[in-house]
Amino acid sequence: MKMALLEVRGLSKRFGGLRAVDGVDLHVERGEVVGLIGPNGAGKSTLVELLTGGQQASSGSIRFDGRDITRLSNHERCRLGLARTFQVPQPFAGGTVLENVMVGALFGSQTRTLSIEQARDLAARTLQSTGLGELCDRAPTSLTTAGLKRLELARCLATGAQMVFLDEPLGGLNPTEVNEAIELIRQVGKSGTTILFIEHIVPAVLSLCQRVVVLANGRKLAEGSGEEVTQNPLVRKAYLGDVSSAADRYSRKGSRGAGNQQPVAERSND
Ligand SMILES: Nc1ncnc2c1ncn2[C@@H]1O[C@H](COP(=O)(O)OP(=O)(O)OP(=O)(O)O)[C@@H](O)[C@H]1O
Ligand SMILES: [Mg+2]
Repeated sequence: MKMALLEVRGLSKRFGGLRAVDGVDLHVERGEVVGLIGPNGAGKSTLVELLTGGQQASSGSIRFDGRDITRLSNHERCRLGLARTFQVPQPFAGGTVLENVMVGALFGSQTRTLSIEQARDLAARTLQSTGLGELCDRAPTSLTTAGLKRLELARCLATGAQMVFLDEPLGGLNPTEVNEAIELIRQVGKSGTTILFIEHIVPAVLSLCQRVVVLANGRKLAEGSGEEVTQNPLVRKAYLGDVSSAADRYSRKGSRGAGNQQPVAERSND
């Protein structure tokens, strides 16, 4: 049997009496692009925190590339090849755009050790490939939301990660920016990087992901192909109402949704 790159068993996180993540099992194969969807407050970002080491799990285990990483710190996980973007962009405001991405290059994967000059060069190339090549010397505070989301992605990719966790990389973007960002993420997946893609724009998830996992109330509600999960009655009850209204809001801005697909709720035969 093929060994999963990421293997998560019974992962839980309690905040006082709240079970934000509640006994989640998850496996991701090397090279897969997996979607993670679910209502607001489902536990998606908390799961990313647990997997990348921003928060320690209350119980459960995480194996990455055959190694138990459950108790490792976030910088140790980053050195092993895990990186994430933040739902609300978290640039280092004191540095330039280039310096932000150099941080990823310098503190990333342990498979290489870069000099400052090599890190600068890698950061510049990464910014070029993520569409920010002209903005290297700018302050992150001068970027638009789309620019900040790209900066998150560039810093994450510059770590040389084997696996990246993208937490709502399309949030706050206009329809044109959404489509451009989807193509960028598709290229990242094609380059062989394993991706866990969290997004509320479900058509974007369906267009990018081979497999989709649904969380609700901290628990895994469903898992399967895009078609399987969107036809699942439990998923429809727990989430598709949200998707319907989100898709409506999105289409009012002048688009039928990312990737020219229809909002999920409109695919219903009900
Ligand atoms: N540090 C924390 N302390 C206490 N409660 C928290 C903390 N972080 C998250 N929570 C709670 O955990 C639950 C899951 O939150 P989380 O941010 O993971 O959801 P989400 O699925 O990412 O939602 P969204 O789609 O809105 O981003 C929520 O009830 C949230 O209020
Ligand atoms: Mg979140």
